[in-house]
Amino acid sequence: MTVAWQASRRTGGELRIENVVRSFAAIRAVDDVSFTVKARGITGLIGPNGAGKTTLFNSVAGTLPINSGSVMLNGIRIDGLAPHRIFGHGLLRTFQIPRPFAEMTVLENVMVTPAGQAGEQFWNTWLRPGLVAREEKALRDRARAIIEFCGLTKVERQLAGAISGGQQKLVELARVLMGDPAIILLDEPGAGVNPGLLDHIVDRIAELRKQGLTFLIIEHNMDVIMSLCDHVAVMAAGRLIAQGRPSEVTADSKVIEAYLGGGVA
Ligand SMILES: Nc1ncnc2c1ncn2[C@@H]1O[C@H](COP(=O)(O)OP(=O)(O)OP(=O)(O)O)[C@@H](O)[C@H]1O
Ligand SMILES: [Mg+2]
Repeated sequence: MTVAWQASRRTGGELRIENVVRSFAAIRAVDDVSFTVKARGITGLIGPNGAGKTTLFNSVAGTLPINSGSVMLNGIRIDGLAPHRIFGHGLLRTFQIPRPFAEMTVLENVMVTPAGQAGEQFWNTWLRPGLVAREEKALRDRARAIIEFCGLTKVERQLAGAISGGQQKLVELARVLMGDPAIILLDEPGAGVNPGLLDHIVDRIAELRKQGLTFLIIEHNMDVIMSLCDHVAVMAAGRLIAQGRPSEVTADSKVIEAYLGGGVA
């Protein structure tokens, strides 16, 4: 029997992206982009293929250094920090293509957490076996509660490589929740997910927002964007071309042109 899991109350989650530039050789994949993700809200990041959305995610999460500009999380400058430090400040992300450990079960995947457990220091296994066992149990209980929240209990003993792509997206979400985030960056949570499971994923994201989490979501499915987001930023060819409420940006002629392959300067 697991206890219902609740997102913890980390404060804030405001993300300020200011004049960020990231180039690959001659391509300015992210070209002077600025926008703010409001704490406890859901901001969408949309734009045609190759617009620079994932590159911006990698830049914010610290896996790709930026060339110039700044990224602030709750007023603290995080650009230039190592990814695990940014993680420590409460910013976690998922990947466009899920990356589960295919040969491990769903439960084991969710239990794989960052450094800091006593069990990782090998002498603890000899000198303080009780501590290690207690930590392992606490970790397992927490993982199972999060798995239940994500609706994955039925598959928790299955290999992560054997479940559907949509369920793998949920495993990614569960793993991120283990890290006690303030803000979560989701890269295409709806890609390749069947409609029934997609409704469930949308519902879980809405519930997490209710519990105080902040989201920045890349998504091509406009139904997902319209139903979840209170603010949308639009990129095309590396640049931010529009931002505003979902109904505003979808009516913006620059946005329509970008999606039709029109000339975005
Ligand atoms: N590691 C890399 N090396 C060189 N060029 C890259 C690299 N990563 C991305 N790019 C280029 O940067 C541009 C932006 O790519 P990015 O993956 O950020 O787009 P995206 O908006 O996420 O697209 P999609 O919607 O297809 O996922 C593209 O022109 C891409 O080819
Ligand atoms: Mg992408």
